[in-house]
Amino acid sequence: MKRLRRLRQNEVMRDLVRETRLCVKDFIYPIFVIDGENLKIPVKSMPNVYQYSIDRLSEILDEVRESKISGVMLFGIPKAEDKDEIASMAYNEDGITQRAVRYIKKNYPELICITDICLCEYTSHGHCGVVKDGEILNDETLPLLCKMAVSLVKAGADMVAPSDMMDGRVASIREALDLEGYKNTPIMAYSAKFASAYYGPFRDAAHSSPCFGDRRSYQMDFTNGQEALREIEADIEEGADIVMVKPALAYLDILKEACQEFNMPVAVYNVSGEYSMVKAAAREGWIDEKRIVTENLIAMKRAGASIIITYHALDMAKWLNE
Ligand code: PBG
Ligand code: ZN
Repeated sequence: MKRLRRLRQNEVMRDLVRETRLCVKDFIYPIFVIDGENLKIPVKSMPNVYQYSIDRLSEILDEVRESKISGVMLFGIPKAEDKDEIASMAYNEDGITQRAVRYIKKNYPELICITDICLCEYTSHGHCGVVKDGEILNDETLPLLCKMAVSLVKAGADMVAPSDMMDGRVASIREALDLEGYKNTPIMAYSAKFASAYYGPFRDAAHSSPCFGDRRSYQMDFTNGQEALREIEADIEEGADIVMVKPALAYLDILKEACQEFNMPVAVYNVSGEYSMVKAAAREGWIDEKRIVTENLIAMKRAGASIIITYHALDMAKWLNE
């Protein structure tokens, strides 16, 4: 008789035939850095996530280093009065993210420091691009994204991750980096980035909500799978070194197809809303946090992700290292 249960009879046997394993090196941990001094501000909708000022960043970076995860994804939050129509602080060499990158590379050189490239944290209107008469302009946004990428790489960023979803941004950023002599700096493109309600808690954390309208004229319609593959293909043609699918759990079909279709490293972003749902239910005692998080992250890896960007990274690393 065919008995599939033979290999499930005890933990050693199950471990032997296990198809998917998580490793701390799979993870990138997102960090919010806020302009100011002596700040560690809790993000209300994201338990155990904080905005740190640079002088207190070591509190979290020491943990990241000890966990042995691969690196961090940085999100800078400028002072409200420093935001303007053209996101000037996004490409100012004394901007919050530039200073944070310099601090990290000086004190934690072994961590891969990736910077999100997008204007929404720096624009007064909270959109990811330049706005004119209520329209988010594509081509006028590209040079600003290029300036932002170049200035962060100059500050020491190991990799840039454009998340704005303007057409042509990967090619533009690649060209700008090459021109400045940064031809070895990889681009991780947020390629299939959907207009998602799952970003809600992040926008609290990063102070980046649009003050009118929404992001549906640039981020993808979440009903579309074919189009996601076209977005990924375009970014690969434009020179992306790593492509990304975002969010994760409701988009595992896209992730799996992308991994099968393209011979490329694929990252997945397990976003803020996905994190908050798990944390809220765990806090109520309705689910077992460790088991749920493990199951979710394994699902992303089983679908084919080579890199997982997740707010659970430090917890998962702790559980893996136990
Ligand atoms: C910036 C950006 C967002 C996220 C990553 N980069 C927010 C958005 O597009 O509104 C979301 C990350 C998360 O929800 O954890 N554009
Ligand atoms: Zn944005």
